[in-house]
Amino acid sequence: MKLVLLGPPGAGKGTQAVELSAQYNIPHISTGDIFRKKIKDGSDIGKKAKSFVERGDLVPDEIVVAMVIERLQERDTAGGFILDGFPRTKAQAEALDRCLSDLRIDIDIVLNFDTTEDVIVKRLSGRRVCKQCGATYHIVNMPTKVEGICDKCGGAVILRKDDEEATIRNRIKVYNETAMPLKEYYKAKGLFVTIDASLDYKELGVKLEALFKDKIG
Ligand code: AP5
Ligand code: MG
Repeated sequence: MKLVLLGPPGAGKGTQAVELSAQYNIPHISTGDIFRKKIKDGSDIGKKAKSFVERGDLVPDEIVVAMVIERLQERDTAGGFILDGFPRTKAQAEALDRCLSDLRIDIDIVLNFDTTEDVIVKRLSGRRVCKQCGATYHIVNMPTKVEGICDKCGGAVILRKDDEEATIRNRIKVYNETAMPLKEYYKAKGLFVTIDASLDYKELGVKLEALFKDKIG
């Protein structure tokens, strides 16, 4: 299964990707997660990406594209993958297509997570992430068992730097400015499927399972 997850910040792409990755045993490739790791490690790409990620602006296409192409060459993608947060521009989608065509791979579905700005703001302002392992929680919708402590690794659970209100607003603005051409691109290819991302975790999971059975078998 080769999936692309599109949708506004906070729509729940990462949350569903974690589930799907475990269910189908395929890697979850989140460009946001990769950038956060590289920033934490102080790598060259991390240094280049830092200011863009912290402002909520897009990292330049050439940096993201090179990083994803490298990731897709790794062996664990042979049985499929979930791309979360990439592509984000039409130029990135075209670069991805060139890369996949060289690898003789076709994308099965581009899932568009559709929700409202009100849901986005509530989800992002309540999101907490583990500083150590990156696991994602929500203070109301998915709280940790012990406040401030990650259930999985015991690390400290904090607000993501780009989840402060002004940065959330900028990320939504950037998304609204860039998403349309990308959606049109995948609609024209017949790969585009919109799902109601306002549903709660479980309902959404059930819908996705039915969708995959129908589309992929
Ligand atoms: P990235 O990490 O991709 O951030 P994003 O797109 O803004 O998306 P989020 O991770 O914020 O949201 P999500 O949809 O994954 O939501 P989540 O599942 O966590 O990118 C960060 C930055 O990196 C970008 O701003 C940019 O600078 C850079 N970047 C990354 N990719 C790039 C690219 N391709 N090109 C250029 N730059 C790039 O859920 C949110 C919250 O809601 C959580 O608390 C969760 O528990 C809760 N929740 C989730 N689903 C539900 C549900 N169904 N019901 C109730 N609560 C829910
Ligand atoms: Mg995410």
